[in-house]
Amino acid sequence: MTRFANSVSSLSSSEIRDLMSLATAPNMISFAGGMPGNDLFPLDEMDRIYNSLTVKEKQAALQYGPTTGMPSLLESLSGYLEARGLPVKKNRLIITTGSLQAIHILARAFIDPGDSLLVESPSFIGALSAFRACQAKLVSVPLKEDGMDTGRLKKMLESSHPKPKFLYYAPNFHNPAGIIYSRKVKQEMITLLKDQDIPIIEDDVYSDIWFHEEDLPEMKLIKAMDPEGIDVCFTGSFSKMLGPGLRLGWMLVPEHIFRKCELIKQSIDACSPSLSQVIADKFIRRGDIFSYTARMREEYRKRGLAMIDALEENLPAYVSFVKPRGGFYTWLQLPEGTDSTAVLRKAIEKGVVFVTGKTFDPDGVKNDQMRVSFCNTDVVTIRRGIPIIADAIREVCDR
Ligand SMILES: Cc1ncc(COP(=O)(O)O)c(C=O)c1O
Repeated sequence: MTRFANSVSSLSSSEIRDLMSLATAPNMISFAGGMPGNDLFPLDEMDRIYNSLTVKEKQAALQYGPTTGMPSLLESLSGYLEARGLPVKKNRLIITTGSLQAIHILARAFIDPGDSLLVESPSFIGALSAFRACQAKLVSVPLKEDGMDTGRLKKMLESSHPKPKFLYYAPNFHNPAGIIYSRKVKQEMITLLKDQDIPIIEDDVYSDIWFHEEDLPEMKLIKAMDPEGIDVCFTGSFSKMLGPGLRLGWMLVPEHIFRKCELIKQSIDACSPSLSQVIADKFIRRGDIFSYTARMREEYRKRGLAMIDALEENLPAYVSFVKPRGGFYTWLQLPEGTDSTAVLRKAIEKGVVFVTGKTFDPDGVKNDQMRVSFCNTDVVTIRRGIPIIADAIREVCDR
């Protein structure tokens, strides 16, 4: 009998990953993945960048680099984040291999087996898996339309002994719930966590994909508010605004946390891909990042609006959903107790996939919700696929 570590026995392949194999079947319409559309990648910009590299730059791109990131990218990314109001100079930046690695590193920095953490319900499955891999106990705070239920957060903080090691949350265009946190909720979180020795991990990979400029003030990050008495560990990524295949993300953390995280990263992969870093650096310095994200915002906005229209036209009245104001996802609420896996089975028979609610539930139980993404499906396909999902829902709920 192969004797695996206890920490991996808690891991199982997530439904979302298993579904990806179905999503690649020919003609299957996929509302399942959280990846940008292949047709949207900035291929011309990539070609221009690569062809403009000097021999020295190409050599550096194939070489190991510093653990915390290539100095040129650290500098250009610092400027980019500073322009977004983040307190870069008061903190330290580490380039990571995707922001999921940043979350993993922070998990390893803080969690001992059995420690409790505060997470949202629903929550990003990648983060939940990272925390489970460290054998954490996940204490979930329900999400409302404007962020986590701070009344419940307060009660949990009062009743949790020993206190949670950190709080993990995703403020903007939430995966999967599609919501934006209001300033009010973020302010209440700050008040509750001040001087509690409970850091916040703020996971922000979608905020560049806003559809309505007037939302920007509401979207201000807790890291940018720079609250006194709370360690805020901010994580971000190039995945949604350049390409996840680069595997580049970052964390912006206080100095004392940086020192631990640098050591952990060194032990994992020594450095993040140098070739990706050289390209991302040029992408920022040439200003491509601004023109490309503007183009992407427009494209995802069209898809998001098509999704809203299609859902409004086709869903039965007993299904509600959060209208996306940015990002990649819509989150549907089925009648209480509905099994979205049964809906998924019907939908797959008809040629459409999405992701079931329990995938994102920290307890893996609540299944009367479903995530329908619009990032990797064009407008025509959205109009074709949503009536099929609506039929599958009716077949399960109306029988
Ligand atoms: C909320 C959230 N955080 C982090 C990530 C990880 O992104 P990456 O590791 O590609 O940077 C994702 C990817 O889907 C996500 O949705």
